[in-house]
Amino acid sequence: MEAVVAVYSDWGIGCGGTQPVVLKADRAHFRALTAGAAVIVGRKTLADFPGGRPLKGRPNLVVTRQALEIEGAQVVHSTEEALSAARAYARCLVIGGASVYRQFFPYLDTVHVTRIALTPVSDSFFPNLDQEPGWRLAQAEPWQEEDGIAYRFCTYKKVS
Ligand SMILES: NC(=O)c1ccc[n+]([C@@H]2O[C@H](COP(=O)([O-])OP(=O)(O)OC[C@H]3O[C@@H](n4cnc5c(N)ncnc54)[C@H](OP(=O)(O)O)[C@@H]3O)[C@@H](O)[C@H]2O)c1
Repeated sequence: MEAVVAVYSDWGIGCGGTQPVVLKADRAHFRALTAGAAVIVGRKTLADFPGGRPLKGRPNLVVTRQALEIEGAQVVHSTEEALSAARAYARCLVIGGASVYRQFFPYLDTVHVTRIALTPVSDSFFPNLDQEPGWRLAQAEPWQEEDGIAYRFCTYKKVS
C-alpha cells in the first residue's frame, strides 16, 4: 500500500490540526498521485479539507471510532476494516493524518514524500524515512522553488 505526505525539514507534517505551509505545486502533485485511486483518511484530517468534505472523484475511506455518516465517503471504524474495504480498489493511498500514517505504516511499501525545506512548528510527525530501518530513498526529483520555498518530490520504498 502507498502513502503520500508532505514533510518539513524535521519530518513535521502539521500543527493544530492543519498544515502550516502548503505549496500549490504539492497540492497538484497530490491530486495527480491520487487521481483514480481510493484514499484512506483520518476523521481529523477530513475536517481540515475545504468544507470538511471528502475529496471529489475518488472513493474516500474515512477512519473514525464514531457512528458517523459522511456524504460522499465510506466510513470505516478500524484499521482492519479500512484494509478490508481498500481491497475493493485497484489502488489505495493513505493520506493521513499522523495517527493514520502511524497505524498503517506496517502495511506501506511506498511513500511519496514532498520534502519542504522549512521548519515551522509541528505537533504531528511522519517517521523519518532517512533513518527508518528497512526503508530507502528510491527516487528524488531535483529541488524546485515556489514563493522562495525549496521543495522536492521523493519516493521511498520498503526494502523487501
Ligand atoms: N503534511 C501532510 O501531508 C499531512 C497530511 C494529512 C494530515 N496532516 C496533518 O496531520 C494532522 C492530523 O493528524 P491526527 O493524527 O491529529 O488526526 P488524523 O489521523 O487525521 O485523524 C485522527 C482520527 O482518526 C480516527 N482514527 C484514527 N485511528 C483510528 C482507528 N484505528 N480506528 C478508528 N478510528 C481511528 C479517530 O477519529 P474519531 O476521533 O472520529 O474517532 C481519530 O481521532 C494535522 O495537523 C494535519 O494537517 C498532514
